[in-house]
Amino acid sequence: MCGIVGYIGFREASDVIIKGLKRLEYRGYDSAGIAILNGEVIIKKGKGKVVNLEKMVLNGPAKGTVGIGHTRWATHGEPNDVNAHPHSDGKHDFAIVHNGIIENYDSLKKELISKGHTFDGQTDTEVLAHLIEEIQKVAEVDFETAVQLALKQVDGTYGLAIVNKHEKDKIIVARKGSPLLLGIGDNEVFIASDASPIIEYTNKVVYLDDDEMAVITREGYQVKTISNIELNKQVHELEMNIEQIEKGGFPHFMLKEIHEQSDTIADCMRGRLMVEENRVVLGGIERVLDRLVNARRLVIAACGTSWHAGLVGEYLLEYIAKLPVEVEYASEFRYRQPLIDSNDILLVISQSGETADTLAAVREARERGALVIGICNVVGSTIARETDAGIYTHAGPEIGVASTKAFTAQVTVLSMMAILLGQRRKVLGEADAKEMIHALHGIPAQVASIMEKQDQIDTISRLFAYAPNFLYLGRSYNFPVALEGALKLKEISYIHAEGYPAAEMKHGPIALIDEHMPVVVLAVTDHTNDKMISNIEEVRARKGRVIAITTENNHDVRNLAEFCITIPETHDVLTPLLTVIPLQILSYQIAVYRKCHVDQPRNLAKSVTVE
Ligand code: G6P
Repeated sequence: MCGIVGYIGFREASDVIIKGLKRLEYRGYDSAGIAILNGEVIIKKGKGKVVNLEKMVLNGPAKGTVGIGHTRWATHGEPNDVNAHPHSDGKHDFAIVHNGIIENYDSLKKELISKGHTFDGQTDTEVLAHLIEEIQKVAEVDFETAVQLALKQVDGTYGLAIVNKHEKDKIIVARKGSPLLLGIGDNEVFIASDASPIIEYTNKVVYLDDDEMAVITREGYQVKTISNIELNKQVHELEMNIEQIEKGGFPHFMLKEIHEQSDTIADCMRGRLMVEENRVVLGGIERVLDRLVNARRLVIAACGTSWHAGLVGEYLLEYIAKLPVEVEYASEFRYRQPLIDSNDILLVISQSGETADTLAAVREARERGALVIGICNVVGSTIARETDAGIYTHAGPEIGVASTKAFTAQVTVLSMMAILLGQRRKVLGEADAKEMIHALHGIPAQVASIMEKQDQIDTISRLFAYAPNFLYLGRSYNFPVALEGALKLKEISYIHAEGYPAAEMKHGPIALIDEHMPVVVLAVTDHTNDKMISNIEEVRARKGRVIAITTENNHDVRNLAEFCITIPETHDVLTPLLTVIPLQILSYQIAVYRKCHVDQPRNLAKSVTVE
């Protein structure tokens, strides 16, 4: 979490940095700050969003063509003016912005205090600044060496950038565990946590890897290891464009991203779903396909919404490809000494490709010899680069903190993967494959048709916008969608919501149902339909307010439910791609009614790069 932007070149650095920080606000938004080099290190920072920082800079411009900036998601120290980044050393010679956690900051701080250092705030980053200062003083080394020596003493993670008033044309950056990339222009270099702040200036990027640093000047950059071994890094060309990271007339990124889904699902299938040939081609896993085909089981690890996609994947892969699947929270996987070895395959799913726990799961599994495959959205992200093989979801940049189009793209990839493996494992017949491939091909148009239900969903949203609790029920493929619907509502509306397998309702949540409780029931026409109808009856008998998501021809459910949103008919296994859409719209509209900050919900961050 936290976003870092830096600039060295010929433009006004504060303009580039503030614009860039706005693009990175999805990573954290409780305080923001900037440091510009202009003979001195000019620091402006404070609590609140980047617009507050922008006002500060407008009131007292910080002129200069070299600078760094930060938008924070607090880990250590409350979000206030003092704890906002950048932080300085005791002499105010340099300024540092940092994403990550210095885990041994407390012991380092005590040692530094014993040597006479005093601290203004509570952050781990300020400790790092003083540590660099202390090392430079005692070891009498140049600044760069002092940074290297300090980084060797810290445990934890960092993506950081530093400017020093004694080195007026230089920025030093370093990375361990928190993403950082350089954007290479003509006589200018950009630094950012992801590509969105730099894409309007250049599409040439260099990704830093862990334990690497770069010394950046106007003329160029030198990447080296923290141990000072010079490296020749590959320059990558990005395919992203600026329109993809703007709102395009929508009031919120989340709504734009909900609407994009018919396109993003189609993009995800392009060149992969071969309808005429009745087959699926997934080039990114071709090399490891035999291993997958012969696998004894597959372990899926992910966090948040990606974990929900993983759960849908479990149903799909087990039903279609007859491949046993276990789905794990990446955070749990890593800490419970997983029984995984060179015979195993770990599939990780991550929109950002930077989630710390998912990345840790990748490393844990690789260390144990397992083959690791990734489903990522962000091209060139750390997880995409550290996995043995992978499939990009091609959903384009997702900016809204609540994930929407990434989820449907992930489920699309998992559906294609299940069909491919089902065919190769010879457990999916031609006719069944054909039915699924045709149904999948039709999903984008069906998703577009659900967008037309917004007014109908709006009536429900208005009615229940102030309900204190919501329950979401689903079975089979749609149980993970119930979890996802509840998560969406919690994330952006701050309404307590629980997703449950419908049958489990009787083991607890039923006690909560009364005339005030909205119960969203995913009741499509499938093999669980009769059972879902019984569950609806049970909710009704307790006066619960049933909001059903069902298929157009399901008259039983339509007659029973107080409110009903219909989706088009599709293959049973693909219904999650459709049932999730009304739930995304419902949570979005409720959040708007409640005047919540849809794209930047409190306390959350899009990319969780701390454990
Ligand atoms: C955060 C985001 C979620 C996301 C989760 C996993 O919690 O707010 O929207 O699902 O991280 O992120 P990933 O990038 O790994 O999919």
